[in-house]
Parts: sequence; structure tokens; C-alpha cells
Amino acid sequence: MTESRKQKIGIIGAGYVGLVNAVCLAEIGHRVWCFDYDAGKVERLNSGVVDILEPDLPELLAGGLDAGRLTFHTTAEEALPEAEIVMICVDTPTDPQIGPDLTRLMSAVGSVAEHAERAEILVLRSTVPPGTSILAEEEFSRLNGSRGISVVSHPEFFQEGRAVEDCRRPLRIVVGSRDKDAAARVAGLWNMPDVPTVVSDLESAEMTKQASNAFLAAKISFINDIARICDAVGADIDTVAEGMGLDPRIGSRYLKAGVGFGGSCLPKDLRALVASARSHGWEPRTLTAAIEVNETQRRLVSELLAERLGSLSGKTIALLGLVFKPDTSDLRDSPAVAIAGLLIEGGATVVATDPAVHGGEPEIPVGVRLADDAYSAAAGAMAVVLATEWDAFTALDWSRMADAMEGTLVVDGRNTLDPVIIRDADLDYVGIGRGTVAG
Ligand SMILES: NC(=O)c1ccc[n+]([C@@H]2O[C@H](COP(=O)([O-])OP(=O)(O)OC[C@H]3O[C@@H](n4cnc5c(N)ncnc54)[C@H](O)[C@@H]3O)[C@@H](O)[C@H]2O)c1
Repeated sequence: MTESRKQKIGIIGAGYVGLVNAVCLAEIGHRVWCFDYDAGKVERLNSGVVDILEPDLPELLAGGLDAGRLTFHTTAEEALPEAEIVMICVDTPTDPQIGPDLTRLMSAVGSVAEHAERAEILVLRSTVPPGTSILAEEEFSRLNGSRGISVVSHPEFFQEGRAVEDCRRPLRIVVGSRDKDAAARVAGLWNMPDVPTVVSDLESAEMTKQASNAFLAAKISFINDIARICDAVGADIDTVAEGMGLDPRIGSRYLKAGVGFGGSCLPKDLRALVASARSHGWEPRTLTAAIEVNETQRRLVSELLAERLGSLSGKTIALLGLVFKPDTSDLRDSPAVAIAGLLIEGGATVVATDPAVHGGEPEIPVGVRLADDAYSAAAGAMAVVLATEWDAFTALDWSRMADAMEGTLVVDGRNTLDPVIIRDADLDYVGIGRGTVAG
């Protein structure tokens, strides 16, 4: 236990962000009540069962429950009365046409106004367009004008697949507020005096998160654009990215060409920022270009297969991977799922396999068949597409894959396979922008 003062914390939303924050705050020693209106999820969490795949999460959940510092509730009435600080961690989707949808967030503000009688600080941990914290403050005052509350924007920056590790040891803590004492109290919850902390106004904190995600998305689209040029001129994008990434002004991360970015954050946050810019009369050209390039990357695999196989109609395609990145079970806005949908639309039979997908997930397009492993998925396939770079797929026996397949085409949508190994198995390798190695 750390020397920071133990606080009474209410968390609204027990999804990726709410749950990971809840277990990490309970681990530090705070008392945490977590409210989610998904009754099934609450019941499972109170019994120690986690729906999502995240390293260390089940163990930390068990620790918090056993210590009596962490409980999950289906109503705000039960969860919030004792809380001094309430963190809103609900989903904030963006509709491609309408823009950000803050309905759930505002409903959570309503829960705080009505039930968090002792709350002094309201923290927005969800990712929101700049200006949202002020709207939340206004909504709170409208519903509960009799007392004030300090609003703090404290965006979460963790990456899925390493969420607990990132939450326990963030690269930075960002806290924005009009009340500097409240901002300091929220930053102090983590008791990490050596982690760089940026204290700001509300809008700058909100914008720091959105701009960070927009930058990462644009970086991926940038390298994908360069990959297209590499294919045309016969250069190898991986060598190019390696050479570029050695310059610390550029850095090597998020510089991997492939089928594009996805997941629950980058696409929706980029769209939210574009909507926000346009609502203020600014056309953010870099951001819209990043979205356009990403869309072309998602179509690339089906276009390439249609060209190489003559057409997609009636062809069986094995799809390796469905989740948006390895070591998660998250299918939200996954490029692999989009590829599956496009292949089905083109008339192909798609047999997919993913270590974290077991069937029945609503995101999987109708018609996609699931196989137990890559070898079963490859049986009778004209082509194999690697869409998520799970270790299990990079370690496959490609001679065995070749024996199972009917065709010879392997499309490496993540540039993680070794073209020499694929070719040694008498298969044809196509990567993304690997002009010179593709042969
Ligand atoms: N997933 C990530 O990697 C990540 C990382 C950083 C930031 N974020 C941001 O954090 C926010 C949450 O993301 P997530 O991935 O945890 O979402 P999620 O969909 O996994 O979880 C949201 C949870 O909130 C619950 N909920 C929604 N409205 C509620 C309400 N009014 N009252 C009670 N419960 C409610 C839902 O039932 C759900 O369980 C989003 O703004 C997201 O952009 C996500």
C-alpha cells in the first residue's frame, strides 16, 4: 500500500476503461464502487469473471474483491452515495454521419447529480470532444443546482492488450480543470510522483487525448500511403520504415504498413475530431486524408484477391484473425471484420479463425464460418489472408498449410510473415508495400 490518502471512488461504466481503472485503483488501496447498467456483466464481475481478454485483469479483480475494496453494482443509487470522487468511463461512440454521441455520458452525469451526494469531484475518463467537460458541468448544475462539483478531464491513454500495465505505469498523467486543487487530487490518486503530469484547462486536456489518437492514426495512414508507393516503385516498406524509425524525431512505433487501424478508439476519435473541427468552421485536411487512406487499406485485400483469383465469387478464403489486434478479444471496428464483410459481399466463402473468438459475437458478419485453427481454416482455401498478427499465426507450419489449401496465394495483411518460408512451401506471398520481397 502506498502513502497516498485512500479515497472513496465511484466509477460509472465497467467496460475496458472502467474495469481496468477500478481494479488498479483498488490495488493502490482506494475503495471503489463500480456502476454499470449491464446486469449480466455486474453479476459476472462480482463473481470474479472477466469477459474481456487483458493480461493480469482476472488476478487484480480477484485481489480487489477479496480485499473488500471493490464491488460492482447495477444501480447508481447503490454505487454512488459514499463516493467522494466519481469517474465517468462510459462509451462515447461517434456516428459517421451525425458525429459524437454523448447520450450515455450525459446520463452518467445525471446519475452523479442524483445519487452521488458526497461527491466533490466529477472526473471524465472517457474520450470526449473538446468542450464536453463544460457541457457536463452545465448539465450537473441544471440537475442539481444546489451544490457545486469540480469537473476534471483526466483522459485514459492505455492500449488494449497491455491496459493494466499501462494503467499501473502510464507514460503521462493529464488532468485539466478550472479547479487546480481538484486536478491535483485526481492526479494524486495514482501516487506516481515520478510520472510526468500535465495540468491544464479542461479543453486542453480533452484535446491532448484526441490529438494523440489522431496523430497515431495519421501515422499509420502515412506509412500505408508510402507502402502503396513502395509497391509501385519496387521498394520494401519494412526496410523503409526501419530506416525512418531510427530517427527519434519519427520513432518506429505505429509505423507498420498493413490493412489499417481499427478498434474502439482510433477510428471513432478521429471522426469525432473531424466533426468537432467542422463544427467550428475548420476543415482538418490531414485528418480526413488519414480516414480516406484507412478506408482504401481495408478494401485492398478484397481488391487484390479479386484480381489474383479472377473473381471472389465461389472462392473459399481462409482468414487468420478477426480481433483488431492480438492479445485482445475486441472486435469493435476491426479491419479483419471489415475484410471478412467485403469478401462475403463479393461472393466468397470466408472461413475464419481467431484464438479469442469463439462464435456468437455480434460483430462477426453473417456468413463467416469459424474454424478451430489455421490448418482447418485453410482446408480447400484458394487463398489465406493474415489479418491479425497473433503469434500463433506467425509460427505456423506453412508446408502443412500448403497441403491443406487448394490454391497457393497468401496475403499478409500485417507484414509479419517471412516471405522466404512461404515461398519455400511453394506458396505465393503478397505483403503490403513489400515490393522487392514479394517477388
Ligand atoms: N478501450 C480502450 O482501449 C480505451 C482507451 C482509452 C480511452 N477509451 C475511452 O474510454 C471510454 C470507454 O471505453 P470502453 O472501451 O471502456 O467502453 P466499453 O463499451 O467497453 O464500456 C463502457 C461501459 O459503460 C457502460 N455504460 C454506458 N453508459 C452507462 C451509464 N450511463 N451508466 C452506467 N453504465 C453505463 C456500458 O454498459 C459498458 O459496460 C470511451 O470514451 C473510449 O473512447 C477507451
